[in-house]
Amino acid sequence: MTSTIQQPPPASVPLPTNRCPFDPDPRYEGIRTSDPVLRVGTPAGFDVWLVSGYEDARTVLGDAETFSNVDASSSHLMGDKDNLGAPPPPGVMLRHDGDSHSRLRLRLAREFMVKRIARLEPFIRDLVATHIDRIGQQKGPLDLYREFALPVTALVISEILGVPEGQRSEFEYATASQVDLSLPLEERQAAAIQSAGFFANLIQSKLENPGDDLLSRLILEPTERPMDAAELQGIALLLLAAGHDTTANMITLGTYALLQHPDQAAKLQNPAVMETGVDELIRYLTIVHNGVLRKAVKDTTIAGQTIRAGEHVAVVLESANRDNRFISDGDQLDLERRSAHLGFGYGPHQCLGQHLARLELRIALPELFRRLSGLRVETPETDIPFKNDMLVYGIKKLMINWDEVIK
Ligand code: HEM
Repeated sequence: MTSTIQQPPPASVPLPTNRCPFDPDPRYEGIRTSDPVLRVGTPAGFDVWLVSGYEDARTVLGDAETFSNVDASSSHLMGDKDNLGAPPPPGVMLRHDGDSHSRLRLRLAREFMVKRIARLEPFIRDLVATHIDRIGQQKGPLDLYREFALPVTALVISEILGVPEGQRSEFEYATASQVDLSLPLEERQAAAIQSAGFFANLIQSKLENPGDDLLSRLILEPTERPMDAAELQGIALLLLAAGHDTTANMITLGTYALLQHPDQAAKLQNPAVMETGVDELIRYLTIVHNGVLRKAVKDTTIAGQTIRAGEHVAVVLESANRDNRFISDGDQLDLERRSAHLGFGYGPHQCLGQHLARLELRIALPELFRRLSGLRVETPETDIPFKNDMLVYGIKKLMINWDEVIK
């Protein structure tokens, strides 16, 4: 059964601070079965079909011929109406469909295969160790997001893109500052301009003098349609936007969730558990929340509801990942379970960087808990600034403390 409501959708209502910070809005539990395809108005004033069940989510995300990414630039329920219809920027594969998407995806896929990503393990281990050493040299409490999660994830991207050593601190500062919501808006905007300029210069220097990195390989690859500077810039910006703050939020929110679940944190040092345990954390926390947006390009039917060409659909991953028709006890965190969760999306646009994200989390989370003995959060839960209204869920600032840093 489906219905139309005039009020803002459940996901657009600012979520109450006293909810469990790891659970989706509790209303989804009922909506998933009573109104699996529900017409709602977003706060920005556009209407979407909310798809909240697991199977329906897979149907929409798996059918890129019916559900397009090109005109879905607002990308989530809290997004801006004015962005809808903006042309897809060159190189930003998440906004392309069909051949245009496949061309970009295929050329980048080999860079993110398990084997190639595995080569980054020593680099990531070293980065994590250095940043924990740095934490140890300071006096707590300090912000885990700003002092650890953002720099570590930014520096991993800088390694992949081939940012020269001498420019990494500038890169790290600009990229971290533009997503750090504890900073004033002007400071974040200035940082975004700084990092766009940084990328333009980086790409120019790779075009003139290619090295051994992702951007240079794209430049050097013999192909009928070489990538131009605008496409390379789009690729670099997308990898940063999609891969930096997501993983940084998973580290921060994941640390908090594990501190709240000590029985699960006790399993972190078991590599066999962590092989799949990070996926359970990704399912449980589903940080890409508030709906991933698509636009129907032809009339279609989902769960008995007709969706007309031109209408938008928002797939609510955090609801689908708790659907009890897909997973039992989905509200429990159990690092030992395996599931075909949708935390990395599904279908042709499923996360390109998922092996990298897993590797970073598999290294960072156990090391934080092993080396910072007595790790704890200093802020009461009611005062923790959760990112309820953003596309990527997380914590704006997580003040941690510890007793001793173990070698
Ligand atoms: C835990 C961390 C991460 C999570 C939860 C995550 C989640 C997602 C999700 C849900 C999508 C699909 C969005 C949609 O269908 O509209 C996606 C796409 C994407 N992700 Fe990730 N991601 C993470 C880390 C990364 C990393 C580290 C990278 C690369 C450096 C990355 C690169 C991408 C790209 C390029 C796409 C677009 C793929 C396409 O359109 O074909 N992500 N991610």
